[in-house]
Formats: sequence, C-alpha cells, structure tokens
Amino acid sequence: MKFQESTLPKDLYYLFNPRGLAVVGASSDPSKIGHTILKNIIEGGYSGNIYPVNPKKGIILGKKVFARLTEVNSQIDVCVISVPALVVFDVLKDCAIKKIPFVLIISSGFSEIGNKEEEEKIKNFAKESGIRLLGPNIFGIFSAKSYLNATFSGSCVSRGSVAMISQSGALGLSLMAKSVSESFGLSAMVSLGNKADLDESDFLEYFGKDKTAKEIFIYIEGVTDGERFFRTLSKVAGKKLVLIIKSGSSVRGAAAAFSHTGSLAGEDIVFDSLISRAGAIRVTDLNQAFSLLNLHSLAGDVKKSETLIVTNGGGVGVLASDSAEKFNVPLFSDLNYLKNKYGAFIPSFGSVKNPIDITGQALAEDYLKILEASLKDPKIKILVCLCCQTAILDNRKLSKYLLRVASKFKKARKNFIFCFIGARDIESHFRNQKYPFYQSVESVFSDISKLNKEKNLVSKSKVLAKLPYKEINNLLENVAMEKRNTLYSFELAELLDKLSINRPKSFFSEEYKDALNSAKKIGFPVVLKIVSKNIIHKTEAGGVKLDIKNELEFKKSFNRLMQDAGRYDSHAIIEGVDVSEMVSGGFELIVGAKKDPIFGTLITCGMGGKYVDIFKDISLRHFDGVKETIFQMFNELKIRPILRGFRGESSMDIPSAVEVVYKLGSLVDKSDLVKEIEINPLIIEKDKVIALDFRVIL
Ligand code: COA
Repeated sequence: MKFQESTLPKDLYYLFNPRGLAVVGASSDPSKIGHTILKNIIEGGYSGNIYPVNPKKGIILGKKVFARLTEVNSQIDVCVISVPALVVFDVLKDCAIKKIPFVLIISSGFSEIGNKEEEEKIKNFAKESGIRLLGPNIFGIFSAKSYLNATFSGSCVSRGSVAMISQSGALGLSLMAKSVSESFGLSAMVSLGNKADLDESDFLEYFGKDKTAKEIFIYIEGVTDGERFFRTLSKVAGKKLVLIIKSGSSVRGAAAAFSHTGSLAGEDIVFDSLISRAGAIRVTDLNQAFSLLNLHSLAGDVKKSETLIVTNGGGVGVLASDSAEKFNVPLFSDLNYLKNKYGAFIPSFGSVKNPIDITGQALAEDYLKILEASLKDPKIKILVCLCCQTAILDNRKLSKYLLRVASKFKKARKNFIFCFIGARDIESHFRNQKYPFYQSVESVFSDISKLNKEKNLVSKSKVLAKLPYKEINNLLENVAMEKRNTLYSFELAELLDKLSINRPKSFFSEEYKDALNSAKKIGFPVVLKIVSKNIIHKTEAGGVKLDIKNELEFKKSFNRLMQDAGRYDSHAIIEGVDVSEMVSGGFELIVGAKKDPIFGTLITCGMGGKYVDIFKDISLRHFDGVKETIFQMFNELKIRPILRGFRGESSMDIPSAVEVVYKLGSLVDKSDLVKEIEINPLIIEKDKVIALDFRVIL
C-alpha cells in the first residue's frame, strides 16, 4: 500500500539536495560501509552540513561525531542509516523525533532474506511518522547538482546528464564506476533496494522534471505498480531519452497471462509493448545502453536529419550504406550538391556520392579539410566519419584534428560521430574528451536509428465500450452471491447477448428429453456441451460433441458426453447440457481479457481452436481502450495474411473481431467482479464473428 500523500513531503528535491545530512553508523574504521559513505560525502564536495552519528563520539574524518541523532540541533533533511538491521528501528524512532523527511537505509537483512516483519515494522512506522524511506538494502544516492555522493562506491564519479535508477546494488555501483571510463556522466544515481516505500515510479517522475537529467537509465527486475509506472513513463519518455533494462523473467506478482494461453505469452511481452508505446527504449545489455547514452548525451539530438558519411575505405563505406538501409537511417541524397560542395577535396579516383570516399591514401589533413567544410555546410546536421587504419595515417595527428572539429560541431549543435576500424589507441582520446567513439559501423546506424525512432505513442485517452454495465453487474453479482466463480451456459449466453456478441442459437436442458426437443427446434446438425461448474476446459474433458446429424446420433452422443465427463471428474456436479446450432467454416480465433495485479487489464487475440498451444500465434497487450491498438495486435499475428484474404479470398471481418476484444477489455476494466474472460474459438468469417465457446472467471 502507498503512503498517504498528505502526511508526506511532496517532492524529492531535498532528498537529492539536502541542507543537512546525518550518517548514522559513521565509523572511524575504513573497512566499514559507514566510514566509506561519510568519506564519499566529504570528498565528493557536498557543501551542506554533515552530522556523523556514533555512540562512541569523537572526531571522524575531521567531523564532530554525535552520540545520537537527537543531539543534533540543526535541521536534517536526509539521514543515511548504516547500522545492522536490528538497530535500524531504534534509529528510525530518532529520525521521527528529529522530523527528518528522508531516510536512506543501507542495511541489508530485511525482506530480501525473508525478514518481512521487520521491514513491515519500519515501513509502517515511517508511514505514521511522515518519513519517506529509500531502501532498505541500498547502496545510497548520488546527486551531481549538490555534489552529494552518499554511496559506498569508489569515490570517483563522472558528472553529466544521465540519471540512473538501479534495483541491483552491485550493478548500480559498477555503473557509477563505469561512468568514469565511459563518455557520459551522471546527474544522479539512486539505488532502489527493497522498495519499502519509494520506488521506480517516484524517481522516474522526479527525474522527468529535473532539468539536470537529460537521459534516464533504469535497471529493474520488476515494477511495483505497473499502471503508475507506465503512466509516468509515457509522460517522461515523451520529453527525455529513457532506457530500460529489465532483467529477470517475471514481474513481481504477475501471473503468466491467461489461464489457457498461459504458456503462450508472459508478462514480459506486455512489458515490452508498454515500454515502446510509452516511447522509452528497452535495451538488452549494458554495452548497448552505454553506447546509446554516449551518443545521446554527447552528440546531442540526432533526430529527423539526413546523414553524411565520409570514409577512407570503399568497403567500409558500402557496409555503412547497407547498415543505414537496414536500420532505416536516411542518408543525404542530393548527389549534385555533394559534388559541387565537396568535389574539390576528393581525388579523381575517389567518390563524391554518399558515402564520400576520400580513399585509402587520405592523410589526417584530408579528413580535416572535408570535416571543416561539412561543419560550415548548413545542409549537413549529422556527420558519420569512418576511418580505417592505414600505414600512412598518423593516428595522433588525426585524433587531434578530429577532436578539434568535434568540439566545433558540438558548438554548432551538429552531430559528429566517429567510427574507427583498426587501432584502439585513438579511443581513449575520444572518451577522455567525452565524444562518442564507435568501432562497429553497424552499431553507429543501429544507435542512430534507435534514437530516431518515431515514438509510437497513442495520444488518445482510454474510452470504454458502451455496454449495459449495470445489467451485466447484476448478472455477475448473482453468480458471485452463489459463491461460484464460473457461469452456467445460460448465463454465458445471456452475457454474450448483453455484450452484443454473436453466438449460435442454443438452449440449456437439464435432462435428455428436453435436450432432444431443443435439438429438433434448432435443427440438425447440432453441438452438445456439458454444463458443469467443475468442468472449465470442456474439450479436454470430452465435454463437447460436434456435428450431431440426427436423433440416433444425438442419443449416442448424449450418453458418451455423460460418460466422458464422469471419467474426467467423477465428483463433478453436472447441471445439464447445452444444445446449440453447429457452426462450420470460418477461421478460429482466440480472444480474451484479464486483470493483472501489476499491469491492470490485459487483452489478447490470436489463432484459436485446439492448436493454440502448438502454434502460439498470440498477441498480448495492456488494454488502453483504443481500438487502433487492437488492430495493431491483429496485424502482428502470423495468421494476418489469412485474415486479410489469402490467394484471392476476400478479407475476413477483422473490425468485428476487434470490436469483440474491445468489449471484453472494457468489461474486465470496468467490472470489479470479472477476473478473466476468454472466447475460444471465436469464428471469424467474411462478414461476421461468432463466439462458439465462452469462459468467464470471477
Ligand atoms: N547509532 C549510531 N551508531 C551505531 C549505533 C546506533 N544506534 N549502533 C551501532 N552503531 C555503530 C557501531 O558501533 C559501528 O561503529 P564502530 O565501527 O565505531 O564500532 C557502526 O555503527 C557500524 O555498526 P557495525 O555493527 O560495526 O556494523 P557494520 O558497519 O559492520 O555493518 C551494515 C553495518 C549496515 C553495513 C551491515 O549491517 C549491512 O547491512 N551490510 C550490507 C549492506 C549492503 O550490502 N547494502 C545493500 C547494498 S546494494
């Protein structure tokens, strides 16, 4: 449960920019974490007041030590606690007395090792006292703006524009160290730990507003509140570059999608699609993340501009054009313009197309000339400079020239991206000066394309289908009152009618004679289905008999249906049978919606029928109440060509199938009672869809 807004500090500003800060557990022993944190805070240049706390008192690292927090007379905004878990609660009580708004609990020994009670205890106490907690089980925070390094990292951190949120301690610490060797620097770093209170959404929201954070990099294993996270992400990723690495195969608490399609699509797919819809980029490894951060934080905006490539190697030039095409990166294409502008710098055996090939005989001076010309060229906004090591190229001279030009590019707000194939010695010159440096042509264009990618945002807000929700609720409440979590077939039929979803003509019968009359009324062929609240997967139970052509077959099928059901579950209570019109032809789809504890309502569609688990052609998304999204889901299915009309056949009624998914999503979203709803098969034909089998779980 989240803290009540009213009792808590509204903004995290003073967490990152505290006016006074205490370290409880500060130690004179350099091997202890409490010592390292204090040392980092002092050496990092933090200019607010620092209060080390330790019962032994004395002086540590030149600072007067207080025996207890309550002895400090000044305002403290942040308290860093680095004492064993058992002592944390006592320290927290002092934090409450001192009215400290933010407390960082470094200590391990809570829910991560199963000690949930202690964590609940500190969490509840903090909540009652109006304290916002970070942690427990964290390595601290870093804030470039206030020169605050309240972590136990190696003290050296490179300052810059990347804000990082890390759920992994070890990884976060190594990322801080890596910021020194990479080109980018950090504006902030926050360790989430066990997330007893503050979580990824709180920090995402804060960094979204923090002007010093231009890029946000999140490493998470799971999100606490999926709906809030993606709502916040959509807002922030529209304005800033947000990269996300999500490790671990499960988001905490999320069941693996639908009961029947459970094995088909996990919540990871939902997470993936939500990230890209929010406009953030999901990266799969750290190198890819660093490369994108380097490019974005140093080269600036690479969006919506055509790229010019300069190379001294024809082959590399071809690789570059291939990569540009592969990753959909537009190249500057006015070749006459290039000839007039750059022809004079290129030997007769070179090429003035794009890539411009200044040939293998190019010297550092030749690069300089062409780069300076492109710097002054108003039409060129992104320059990719490729260079292959040759015996006549002086690397030192080249890097000196390139760096000089690169800084002018930066001032002119143009992008200069350098890729060197061969000698590595040049790399450190670039990294030291904080310029992106590539050794793979493909990575250059894959990165440009990732940053260029149009955000697939759906700006429309959630609109639910117009349905008789009140009547549906009354129907479902009656079922719930009988303590059932599934519906009888006649109730399902009623629900389908209320949803205005086509279904075959069907009648419920409690006994044979009545069932036979129903079959005659409908007209053969008919379908017989078992009706039992204990049998959910009817087909598996032998509870469905198809294509019954006459009275004789009806009798046999009825008897077999009862025997099969009894064999499947001898304790099952059989309420009766359902006799329905036999629908043949069309194509079988599966559609459904369910409530997910992390992401809210999820919807699915795909190839249905009994081969669902074999073909696994399923699309799964978060329900955003936008029909376009559902059309996209159908579009990404492998069966798309069949639905669109295969070999001259006409297209199937996809709009009606979309409408069904939209209605199911709306119902699950609106209703507090429905947990899950699935139609399999939903027969799709050229001009209609018909729900053959329908399941609802409350
Ligand atoms: N107020 C202030 N100081 C107190 C105190 C109190 N109530 N109780 C004890 N202290 C002092 C101790 O006397 C000690 O100081 P000293 O070195 O001068 O004797 C200091 O606080 C630290 O306590 P100590 O018992 O020595 O613990 P420690 O430093 O060995 O370990 C933790 C403390 C928090 C680092 C350890 O319990 C822990 O959780 N380590 C894992 C941290 C971690 O990995 N976090 C996650 C990272 S991602």
